Amino acid sequence: MKSTIATLLSVLAVALSSPVASNNDYCRPSQKTFIAQYDDLPFVEPGPNPLPNPYNGLTYTTFQVDQYDGFIPPTSGNQWTMAFGGSGNISVSASPPKQTFALSSFSFACVSGVPQPECAISIWGWKAKGIAIKRVIHYPRLDPGHVIEDFKMNRTTFSREWQELKSVGFSISRADNGGDMFGGLALDDVKYTITSKC
Ligand SMILES: *[C@@H]1O[C@H](CO)[C@@H](O)[C@H](O)[C@H]1NC(C)=O
Ligand SMILES: *[C@@H]1O[C@H](CO)[C@@H](O)[C@H](O)[C@H]1NC(C)=O
Repeated sequence: MKSTIATLLSVLAVALSSPVASNNDYCRPSQKTFIAQYDDLPFVEPGPNPLPNPYNGLTYTTFQVDQYDGFIPPTSGNQWTMAFGGSGNISVSASPPKQTFALSSFSFACVSGVPQPECAISIWGWKAKGIAIKRVIHYPRLDPGHVIEDFKMNRTTFSREWQELKSVGFSISRADNGGDMFGGLALDDVKYTITSKC
């Protein structure tokens, strides 16, 4: 009996110390942090350049792989992900079923050209329990008369409220009057942690 418990405890210890999901017939809870940079993905012109599904554990709707064209540089490498119409979703894969993700941070830019008005980016988080949360962040207006080096992505971090997510949705509009930005939303260095439960 004592040795059975000892064996059980050592199995448990191995399960807890190894964060990698496996295809064994018992399930191990796992947690893995990613920083999606999109630089390893193929890009062809003309597109479209959809992301592989899943990419680092997440599924992208309308977001594509896009490459630096001389305007706003990606924060890492020369590629970012772009929702050309300004709206799109990023969701955790449906399989395995008990996965959620916590969003930590990303770099972002609204990309419509110079001049472009201040941009309001609405971000919705849909949680496993059906709860929806929302946040609005802004990307500054871009005026003519700047050297191209002045244009940068901005970066934001997310509070602990942004966890147990199934999906995150994005939509952009003009910050001054809610009108159309006629542009895209670019993201880079998207940092998140995927949790799988049993
Ligand atoms: C994103 O997901 C929401 C909720 O499931 C849905 O209403 C919306 O149409 C989706 N947007 C896109 C661009 O797929
Ligand atoms: C945000 O982007 C603007 C426009 O490119 C840039 O001027 C500003 O320095 C950026 N801010 C940060 C904190 O990166």
